[in-house]
Amino acid sequence: MNARNDSLPKTNAALMARRTAALPRGVGQAHPLFAQRADNAEIWDVEGRRWIDFCAGIAVVNTGHCHPKVMAAAHAQLDKFTHTCFQVMAYAPYVELCERLNAAAPGATPKKSFLVNSGAEAVENAVKIARAATGRPGVIAFGGGFHGRTMFGMALTGKVAPYKIKFGPFPGEIFHVPFPHALHGVSEDDSIDAIERLFKYSIEASRVGAIIIEPVLGEGGYVPAPLGFLKRLRALCDEHGILLIVDEVQTGIARCGKLFATEHYGIEPDIVTLAKGLGGGMTVSAVVGKAEIMDAADPGGLGSTYAGNPVAVAAALAVLDVVAEEGLCARSTALGETMRKRFSAMKTRFASIAEVRGLGAMTAVEFCRDGDPKQPAADIATALKDEAAKRGLLLLTCGTYGNVLRVMVPLTLSDGVLDEGMDIIEQSLQAIGA
Ligand SMILES: Cc1ncc(COP(=O)(O)O)c(C=O)c1O
Repeated sequence: MNARNDSLPKTNAALMARRTAALPRGVGQAHPLFAQRADNAEIWDVEGRRWIDFCAGIAVVNTGHCHPKVMAAAHAQLDKFTHTCFQVMAYAPYVELCERLNAAAPGATPKKSFLVNSGAEAVENAVKIARAATGRPGVIAFGGGFHGRTMFGMALTGKVAPYKIKFGPFPGEIFHVPFPHALHGVSEDDSIDAIERLFKYSIEASRVGAIIIEPVLGEGGYVPAPLGFLKRLRALCDEHGILLIVDEVQTGIARCGKLFATEHYGIEPDIVTLAKGLGGGMTVSAVVGKAEIMDAADPGGLGSTYAGNPVAVAAALAVLDVVAEEGLCARSTALGETMRKRFSAMKTRFASIAEVRGLGAMTAVEFCRDGDPKQPAADIATALKDEAAKRGLLLLTCGTYGNVLRVMVPLTLSDGVLDEGMDIIEQSLQAIGA
């Protein structure tokens, strides 16, 4: 492996040229950089430059890059075996991880879980199970929602560019309603009314199997659902025999100050999807749900060759330990409060900050020209990302209009690195004249 690495160029620019020639343009990249090594909230690129990481691999390394306990667990499993295919010959840690997720998932109803490989795959399976359990085809999702790049994930996603362009037609019987967001004039009532109207205009409630929602829109702009909204959705689902799927791929594993963001909302979902933070950087996702519903699919209907990879499962078990031992839910809450306090202070200085929001550490700043929500300013968000990169900080944007800075710090980062990154953001806003 070393010999092969040694033959590769040592500069980001040369590697970008090779990448551009070798990969299709559809695989995006936020920063023209190549990683060499990483530690907690810092990454060093192939040129030896240090970067502060406020992206965490898109909200994945909640326990920090290369957490010693997670690494040790993965290494130990590597030395035993790396693959049997769980459906051929099982292994105990997979079962233990499911048991722990079942015990931790919101609500008192007995749960069952199984593992797959990515967020999109978890979402696909959640919908399969909902259809099997209800015998109903329809699925309602939200504008601004993101559920992955597989065919059904794309279809559920409520953001056309760049996720759906050129890829249709999509599977049928999927309907979108607006996600409540006061800044853009959509109230909880508007969202509920839109669902009620769907039942009149497009599909009868008795043919809808599931409503899927992110408790906090991820790609759609880090917009937390109002605290009462999930209760109203729960009631509406119960009234019509519809299952409620909560997509916690991005919000889960302490990102929002609880193991499951749903815990903030005081409801019990029928099915929950998890991915990202679960493996601490290793590839594993999960579908967790009410046992009776999860058992609706027949034997052989669920699974995949690589699902629940033993090394990733070992890492995930260590992640759950680290989250508990290091109090990362409380840390996430505290980080969110600190960041939003600083961003709120920045809002008084920079006219283009229209809103500061978030839940736990999931924190966002939305930019609009002169703070006017009718004039989303993607150029300001992008300029901030680029200016911060000049100063050594990795940031990402998101949002329906691409005008949102989303902060996804590893929850293990030190106060010193947090301050360093926040200072860079403030200096960058000043530099770009935000
Ligand atoms: C809420 C949500 N669901 C699903 C996905 C898809 O996950 P993956 O990229 O692992 O397929 C994402 C990814 O960002 C996500 O944020």
